[in-house]
Amino acid sequence: MQAQDARKLAVARAALAYVPSGEVIGVGTGSTANFFIDLLKSERVSIEGAVASSQATAARLKAHGFDVLELNDVNGLSVYIDGADEFDPQLCLIKGGGAALTREKIVAAASQRFVCIVDDSKRVDRLGRFPLPIEVIPMARSYVARELVKLGGHPVYREGVVTDNGNCILDVWGLDIHDPVHLEARLDQLTGTVCNGLFARRRADIVLVASDAGVQCLQHPAEAVPRQS
Ligand code: A5P
Repeated sequence: MQAQDARKLAVARAALAYVPSGEVIGVGTGSTANFFIDLLKSERVSIEGAVASSQATAARLKAHGFDVLELNDVNGLSVYIDGADEFDPQLCLIKGGGAALTREKIVAAASQRFVCIVDDSKRVDRLGRFPLPIEVIPMARSYVARELVKLGGHPVYREGVVTDNGNCILDVWGLDIHDPVHLEARLDQLTGTVCNGLFARRRADIVLVASDAGVQCLQHPAEAVPRQS
């Protein structure tokens, strides 16, 4: 196994401690989330079911025998486990490298606790090294791209990608993300935009970071140690 995959596996394993037994949990998208899903199965973790942030995650959960529920059919979620493309010291994130940002943001919003699982290559002092994904209604793609240029960004159309919601993705380089909460709100105002990949208003509550030294837990002071039920 490659070293980065070993770190993803390690951090996915650490996240198991945050899974409340017998409940419905939210499960994210991407290679780190895939390690987590596989561990749910191999470690025989007892959950009632899962709400998936993408069709790919739903398919993987079902293939492992887990019940996949619609978010509309559950009364909120106690925990959401997902990866990220970048995280900063305030636990704000960039997500959407896998084009699942909209459903990820919805599931995160509906969850009491968002546990983000990353390897240390995702750590930045300021968000923006990774291009910011934005999901856009197809007919608005060029308009939104021009508006993003006015904001100082360099949008690149992610060719050949159609999101689970039938939309397209613009990856935006060069934005000044010194205030992620403000920029997230500003981008939300662009007509034709479905969702942007800044997770700042609803940021992670806990970021588990795997490095060669082990798994580090970053959290807000209000966050307690792992909950078990
Ligand atoms: C999916 O759209 C993304 O938000 C992923 O959570 C993110 O790209 C992390 O993916 P990896 O775990 O594959 O690095």
